[in-house]
Amino acid sequence: MNVGTTIIKSRHSVRKYKADPVDENVIKDVLECARHAPTAMNLQPWIFGVVRERSLLGKIADLTDHGKFIAGAAVCIAVFGEKKAKYYLEDCCAATQTIILALQAYGVGSCWVAGEKKEYAEAVRKLLDVPDGYTLVSLIPAGFPAEITLQKKKVLEEVTFFEKYSEQQ
Ligand SMILES: Cc1cc2nc3c(=O)[nH]c(=O)nc-3n(C[C@H](O)[C@H](O)[C@H](O)COP(=O)(O)O)c2cc1C
Repeated sequence: MNVGTTIIKSRHSVRKYKADPVDENVIKDVLECARHAPTAMNLQPWIFGVVRERSLLGKIADLTDHGKFIAGAAVCIAVFGEKKAKYYLEDCCAATQTIILALQAYGVGSCWVAGEKKEYAEAVRKLLDVPDGYTLVSLIPAGFPAEITLQKKKVLEEVTFFEKYSEQQ
């Protein structure tokens, strides 16, 4: 039994949230975790936006296609990557997953909502007044879970190999 891996394995995407707010100190600690995520050449090419205003959450939700539930989140963290950094996408994905797991450690549910490949990325950037050298990589709506859906996962043997790959694992 390991506390860290138990938290990691207990994470599921949460899209329905209770009305309770997420404490400011929790958000700050989550962002502290995010800034410790690994980045290529340690460039840390990111900005993390924290949105709690209900009207702004609604506007972000409206812009997305599969993120309408952002309107009901207690908070939404938006991860922006500095486009001139070669590995900004990988770096910001590392930060995104770190944020999601740090939230989980506090019992706060969240869901990764796509950003970088979406047409609405530019509109979200403009809505939040983020400089144009940055692009939206992900949106992370979060809150205490009101409902959790469990997704099926592939079994370990199906997705791993040791030493060299072989069809008969
Ligand atoms: C890059 C990426 C983009 C995603 N975009 C969305 C999204 O736009 N809307 C959504 O509801 N879920 C989104 N998800 C969440 C996935 O649907 C979810 O992780 C997947 O169904 C597995 O479920 P689980 O997170 O509960 O394990 C995204 C996840 C990733 C990694």
